Amino acid sequence: MQTIQTIAEMRKAIGSTEGTVGLVPTMGFLHEGHLSLIRKSQESCQRTVVSIFVNPTQFNDPSDYENYPVDLKKDLDSLAKEGVDLVFIPNPAEMYPKGRLKVQMAIPELTANLCGLHRPGHFDGVLLVVSKLFNIVQPDQAFFGLKDYQQFLVIRTMARALDFPVDVVGCDTVREADGLAMSSRNARLSEKAREHAALIPRALNLVQKTLDDRKGRYSVNCQELCEIAWDVIESGTMNKVEYMEIVDPDSLQKLDELQQDRTARIATAVFCDGVRLIDNRAIHF
Ligand code: PAF
Repeated sequence: MQTIQTIAEMRKAIGSTEGTVGLVPTMGFLHEGHLSLIRKSQESCQRTVVSIFVNPTQFNDPSDYENYPVDLKKDLDSLAKEGVDLVFIPNPAEMYPKGRLKVQMAIPELTANLCGLHRPGHFDGVLLVVSKLFNIVQPDQAFFGLKDYQQFLVIRTMARALDFPVDVVGCDTVREADGLAMSSRNARLSEKAREHAALIPRALNLVQKTLDDRKGRYSVNCQELCEIAWDVIESGTMNKVEYMEIVDPDSLQKLDELQQDRTARIATAVFCDGVRLIDNRAIHF
């Protein structure tokens, strides 16, 4: 496994690589969710590049950036075990050299609600770093987890709009035994908070169950469904819901009613003992 820190070296390594390249961008502190993206890449591409970069431009809250968990040694061990070909670990000065003018990227239509509304500037930073990574690594395919559903849509839209010749692939969320979506942030939960966090997937699943129970009706009110899920989550006293919304799965526009045979996405962000967790799932009426 080759470990690379500079953009110039990365370009050189990619230039001498034969076959298709899959990219898995990460911010490190890898878990099974990341490893599943890596395995997907290895299944469909001849070479897999994993980037580890805690991207400062996507953190709207400086303390979230400072507290972001890091364990490079453990990450490199698991990447070597997975048989990854290249690991790109630039430092912030390599990606954002001092003195350069700031470039801003935005897709306002996809970021007006959900995390885009609650983390101003977050997706601008994600788009900037991911477009730089696409440019540096020149992957044929890039793999992203659908836990970050809005992020996946935003990146796919950017890649199409800017004609990056990359196939942006969304991969199913990997969950713990009790349903909690895997996230590097879960490591920051105390044992008690971890129990309360398990209410998040339970609440989203209950929304689908409610829809199943109401089969035969003409439509269901989304506000009412969101309130059911909201209450379940906040029955855990350490939980505070930031948002809970039912949206169109492509445009991310908020839906007020679900008519029969409609597929949508329910998405939430929850502060669990101060740790911000997100989750979402497809729902069908
Ligand atoms: O999902 C993440 O870990 C990050 O947002 C990403 C895509 C690696 C960009 O920094």
